[in-house]
Amino acid sequence: MCGIIGISSDKPVSASIINSLKKLEYRGYDSAGIATLSDGNINEVKSKGRVSNLERNFDIKNLKGNIGIGHVRWATHGIPNSVNAHPHSSHNVSVVHNGIIENSTILKKDLINKGHNFKSQTDTEVIVHLITENLKTTELEEAITKTLNQLQGSFALGVVFKDIPDLIVGARRGSPLAVGYGPNENYLGSDSYALKSMTNKITYLNDSEFCIIKKNQINFFNDKGKKINKKILELSSNELSSEKGDFKHFMAKEIEEQPTTVKTGINEYIDNVNKDINIFNFPWKIEEIKSITLIGCGTAYHSCLMAKYWFEEFTSLDVNIDIASEFRYRKIRFKKESLYIFVSQSGETADTYAALDLCKKNKMKTCAVVNVIESSIARDSNFVLPIHCGPEIGVASTKAFLGQMLILYILALKFGSLKNEIEKNNYQEKINDLKNLPSLIEKTLLVDNDIQNASSTFNDAKGSMFLGRGFSYPIALEGALKLKELSYVHAEGYPAGEMKHGPLALIEEGMPVVVLAPRDSYYKKTISNMQEVIARGAKVLLITNKSKDEVISENIWETIEVENTNDDLLPFLLTIPLQKLAYYSALKKGYDIDKPRNLAKSVTVE
Ligand code: G6P
Repeated sequence: MCGIIGISSDKPVSASIINSLKKLEYRGYDSAGIATLSDGNINEVKSKGRVSNLERNFDIKNLKGNIGIGHVRWATHGIPNSVNAHPHSSHNVSVVHNGIIENSTILKKDLINKGHNFKSQTDTEVIVHLITENLKTTELEEAITKTLNQLQGSFALGVVFKDIPDLIVGARRGSPLAVGYGPNENYLGSDSYALKSMTNKITYLNDSEFCIIKKNQINFFNDKGKKINKKILELSSNELSSEKGDFKHFMAKEIEEQPTTVKTGINEYIDNVNKDINIFNFPWKIEEIKSITLIGCGTAYHSCLMAKYWFEEFTSLDVNIDIASEFRYRKIRFKKESLYIFVSQSGETADTYAALDLCKKNKMKTCAVVNVIESSIARDSNFVLPIHCGPEIGVASTKAFLGQMLILYILALKFGSLKNEIEKNNYQEKINDLKNLPSLIEKTLLVDNDIQNASSTFNDAKGSMFLGRGFSYPIALEGALKLKELSYVHAEGYPAGEMKHGPLALIEEGMPVVVLAPRDSYYKKTISNMQEVIARGAKVLLITNKSKDEVISENIWETIEVENTNDDLLPFLLTIPLQKLAYYSALKKGYDIDKPRNLAKSVTVE
């Protein structure tokens, strides 16, 4: 979590730092701050809340300096206020930090005994004073190496020094950090996205490395303080822009982009001429894979759950799914013949990365399904399947969810075909059906009006439920998550068949319940479960697919119909009204749709 930017230039940097911080707000928006060096001073300006507050701060306008660091925060230690906002400074050192210092309490005690004064409740301030302390007796590189070795936990750091005013130090362990190369200036950023508007030439720091950035030179060092060489990468350009255009919110734009992103994904992986799926350079033989474990967090976890149904449908593989924060601490019996698939939009989620790292250390086969191909998870996996969605800015994931599902669906089909477990005609029919998916999504996006009307009922209720069976169950979970994230309404996703084992007790007169009942093999069972909740007073919003047959049930409050396709592609269409339901609920409440409270897009703390 949190975003870092640093610029060392031959011209004033505060305006560029503010611009980059605006881009980084998706990583945290509790507070923002900037520190520049000029005339032998560290100039620090910080504000609670958004970067726009910082921008309005009178002191920013007069902030001089050709070198500076900036930060947007997602609070871990200490409440979100301007004192706890980064940068944190001593008389000679200023630091921005992303991550958590686990031994900060012990280090702080020791530093207080040595006469250091602390102003904030953060763990970060310990780093500032440690560097100040180490600089008393050693030169810069040694002081940094020594400080990094004293820190436990995860961090990405940007540091500037009052007495060495021509450089920024960047360092990382656990949290990602990139440097960028510009004309007469160089940059430090918590990810390449922050730097993209300034440069497409990037170098990523590996764990335990640090760098010294001057306006026309960057040097890299390993954990022993020894100089090392690193590669410069050229970033790919994305044709889908990271600007809002005519849309009121990024989320609205990203929902509407889905026909295009799904089409791009299909074009990347489907060979229309041979009616086949291309997974180029897949590094293993199918016989080497006997089981699959899919790992992710949040929305990405829901696409893993969805994939389990598809892999089980098309292959005989043993399929496990796991929430990354659970997987990484369990006693896992690693199996050589297993493929571990890491699903992550950002490719930077700390728990997912830690799970990948654990698999790597156990020499497992690892595959990343990511949107950001330059990300840590992509770089450190054996094989990468990009989802090709373009930048997703809205904190609540939408187009990336469809993108992840698409790639996992395609992979499941391909495995079924390679293992001869899906019949050839059926395989090719499913590939044909895929081609129509973008236009079906486009038509389903027209459900707007009905959804807008229904959303008020969810806002007025004290809670709601989302029910589905089979392929619709993961979508019910995702629908509930979207509503929670955006409109702060309590929403629970549940397998419809489980209601009678407890949650049915929650149903009372007028409670809104979304029932996902497409006309697939689970349809009749789900309709029975729907009747059980209607009988207990629930106000049911039924989401099904178009059909000539009427739904046989009384007292359904509202019905929304998505387009028709084969059973296993229906989840893509069922997702659309749920994304819109959450969007319109939040819109009616006047909430911050792209940046819901307490959340962040890229969660780089565990
Ligand atoms: C955060 C975001 C979610 C996302 C999850 C996993 O919680 O708010 O939208 O699903 O992280 O992120 P990833 O980048 O790994 O998909």
